[in-house]
Amino acid sequence: MKIALFGASGATGRLLTQRCLAAGYQVTALLRTPETFPLRDRVQVIQGSAFDPNPVRQTIADADVVLSALGANSLKKEDVLEHAVPQIVAAMQETSTQPKPVRRIIVLGSAGALSTSLDKQPAWRRWIVQNIVYNTFLKWPVASQISQWNTLSHSSLDWTMVMPPMLTNTPGHGTYRIDGDALPPSGSRISREDVADFIMQQIDDPQWIRKGVYITW
Ligand SMILES: NC(=O)c1ccc[n+]([C@@H]2O[C@H](COP(=O)([O-])OP(=O)(O)OC[C@H]3O[C@@H](n4cnc5c(N)ncnc54)[C@H](OP(=O)(O)O)[C@@H]3O)[C@@H](O)[C@H]2O)c1
Repeated sequence: MKIALFGASGATGRLLTQRCLAAGYQVTALLRTPETFPLRDRVQVIQGSAFDPNPVRQTIADADVVLSALGANSLKKEDVLEHAVPQIVAAMQETSTQPKPVRRIIVLGSAGALSTSLDKQPAWRRWIVQNIVYNTFLKWPVASQISQWNTLSHSSLDWTMVMPPMLTNTPGHGTYRIDGDALPPSGSRISREDVADFIMQQIDDPQWIRKGVYITW
C-alpha cells in the first residue's frame, strides 16, 4: 500500500506516519523542512509546500491513498487548507485518465466545518460553542475547515472528512463515538491517537466515502 501523506510533521501527522510504517505501508511525505522530521529516513520525502502544484503532484504520484493532517501553525488567518486542499484535489483529479487514478483521500477536518455539527447538543451548549468558540476564538480554523469541506464535496474524488472536536495529546481510549450527522451529545474532545487510529481504519473501509464523519469520546 502506497500512502501520500500531507502534514506528516504535525502532531496528528506524526502519529499517522508511525501507524503507516507499522502497517508496512510505503509513505511519501511532503515536508517543508525535512531536516526536522525524525522519521525522514523511513519515508520518501518530497520537499516543498502544499501550496505548490509540482511537489503536490510528486507526492500523490502512484499513491493508493492520500492522507492529510494539514493545518495552520496558529489560530490566525493562514489559509492553509484554502490553498493546499485545492492543489491536492486538482493533482488527484489530473490522474483520472491514468491506468491507476489516485481517487481516495482521507482528511483530518473539524467538527466546526458544518452548520449542522451542533444539532445534537443542548441549546445552551450550541449557543456557547457556536458564538464563543466557532465564531470568535476559532474563527479562522473553522473558515479553513469549511473551505476544505467545500473543496472536497465539490470534487469527484472518494473523500472522507474526519471531524473531531478539540484534539488532545493524551493516550487513546481505543473506544469513541462516531456519527455521520452531527457531533454526538456532549462530545467535546478526543485524543489525536484515537483520531489517527480511525483515519487508518478508513484506508480499507468504504463506509464513509464521500461523507464527513464526526468522532468524539
Ligand atoms: N487543535 C485542535 O483541537 C483541533 C480540533 C479539531 C480539528 N483540528 C484540525 O486539525 C488540523 C491540525 O492538526 P494537528 O494539530 O495535528 O496539526 P499541526 O500540528 O498543526 O500540524 C499541521 C501540519 O500542516 C503542515 N503544513 C502547514 N502548512 C503547510 C504547507 N504550506 N505545506 C506543507 N505542509 C504544511 C505543517 O507542516 P510544518 O511542520 O512544515 O509546519 C504540519 O505538518 C487542523 O486542520 C485543525 O483545523 C484541530
